[in-house]
Amino acid sequence: MTSLTTETYGVINPSTEEVVREVELYGTPETDEAIQRAAVAFETWRRLNPADRAALLRRFAAAVDADLENLARLEVANSGHTISNARWEAGNVRDVLNYYAAAPERHFGRQIPVAGGVNITFHEPLGVVGIIVPWNFPMPIAAWGFAPALAAGNTVVLKPAELTPLTALRLGELALEAGIPPGVLQILPGSGSIVGERFVTHPAVRKVVFTGSTRVGQHIMAGCAEQVKRLTLELGGKSANIIFADSDLERAAAAAPGGVFDNAGQDCCARSRILVQRNVYDDFMALLEPAVKAVTVGDPGLETTTMGPLISAKQRQAVAGYVPAGAPIAFQGTAPEGPGFWFPPTVLAVDDARDRAFREEIFGPVVTVTPFDDEADAIRLANDSDYGLSGSIWTADVGRALRMARAVDSGNLSVNSHSSVRYSTPFGGFKKSGLGRELGPDALDAFSEVKNVFIAT
Ligand code: TAP
Repeated sequence: MTSLTTETYGVINPSTEEVVREVELYGTPETDEAIQRAAVAFETWRRLNPADRAALLRRFAAAVDADLENLARLEVANSGHTISNARWEAGNVRDVLNYYAAAPERHFGRQIPVAGGVNITFHEPLGVVGIIVPWNFPMPIAAWGFAPALAAGNTVVLKPAELTPLTALRLGELALEAGIPPGVLQILPGSGSIVGERFVTHPAVRKVVFTGSTRVGQHIMAGCAEQVKRLTLELGGKSANIIFADSDLERAAAAAPGGVFDNAGQDCCARSRILVQRNVYDDFMALLEPAVKAVTVGDPGLETTTMGPLISAKQRQAVAGYVPAGAPIAFQGTAPEGPGFWFPPTVLAVDDARDRAFREEIFGPVVTVTPFDDEADAIRLANDSDYGLSGSIWTADVGRALRMARAVDSGNLSVNSHSSVRYSTPFGGFKKSGLGRELGPDALDAFSEVKNVFIAT
């Protein structure tokens, strides 16, 4: 690797506010050099036979597995994720790599019947793919981009968020240790406006995968238009958790805190708008209160902790802005005092869809609870949002579950559960929640072009 600018910055532990490590910042010249290396590496990587590419991805997965506890502890220190979540996240990287390791040998083209010859299609890799990762799930979101991109024969430059670069840097080292050739997967720590922006403007980067805020996503989309550059966007969410009177209310209430306060609410899939049928509203709130108060907020390194801190002082200030003096707080959990960017789980009783806590992505442990009258009212409220990423429906009526699942404008819905992201199923948003889909069996199509070839016979 060529020399870097000497500029470094301290990466902060959000639980203690102490510096974990100094990290070098890439500038534009270093980014350009990395993109050039990726472009050179592409010519070899794309031609590697599919079985060898698959074997290397499996070795990369094995290296991640062998380093799982180290990666998880690194994420606890850098991102304040609970240790159990962080272990799941590192395991998810391994699983995503293993899943897409099966793809190079199965990325079939088609033979299409035509007159006068044979017609076949090929999936060609795009070239260099630039992946821009946010700070909320540094490991999984990186892997959802790089695993299918590499499997399809592309090379990758990846920019982690400035706040959370440590696990991405470690994954880059593990890729090399596993035998992935230099230049095939490079991690470029730096700022969005320099490194991320260069992915958009550099002509050798043929696709950008962006996860983050809708505002920056719109800016990147406009930039990509200049070169008709391929683009996947995973943006924000304001998902509804819809609870009908005929559901198992106890289960719905017990699951609701996990559906929104996981990762301290810093989750684009957070079910941050609970909609409850009016005739069971009081019963539901009575069940929700102890569930919220049972959320254990504190040292994320402890096995017993269920919620850690927010990522930064700035994020905590933004979240606190949704709970001003006089806010309609129904009840609140607790949070530690002293160093760390803590915020207690907070439930707001909001009966007005114009309320900004109901409309805006808070990205913190704050949830609104709003009553609805019937199915039509629930659909109206759920869809009264610029976003459409995920959501949940709680009901004992299968017909209603399916009617609601079809009616809610959202990319990922779960019935009587809050599960949404599985590596084997597609993930992505409607409306301002994004463009394109990640994961699932078709992810390689987003990292390749279809080429049609006709051979006259
Ligand atoms: P963003 O600014 O959107 O950051 C996401 C990523 O984009 C980071 O890696 C960031 O780099 C990079 N970036 C920023 N400006 C860029 C540019 N002009 N060109 C290319 N890349 C750029 O999000 P944030 O400020 O961290 O968070 C703000 C809000 O966004 C949150 O409160 C939340 O509502 C939302 N958010 C949503 C998600 C998901 S998963 N949908 C994730 C994070 C945040 P830096 O390293 O410089 O930050």
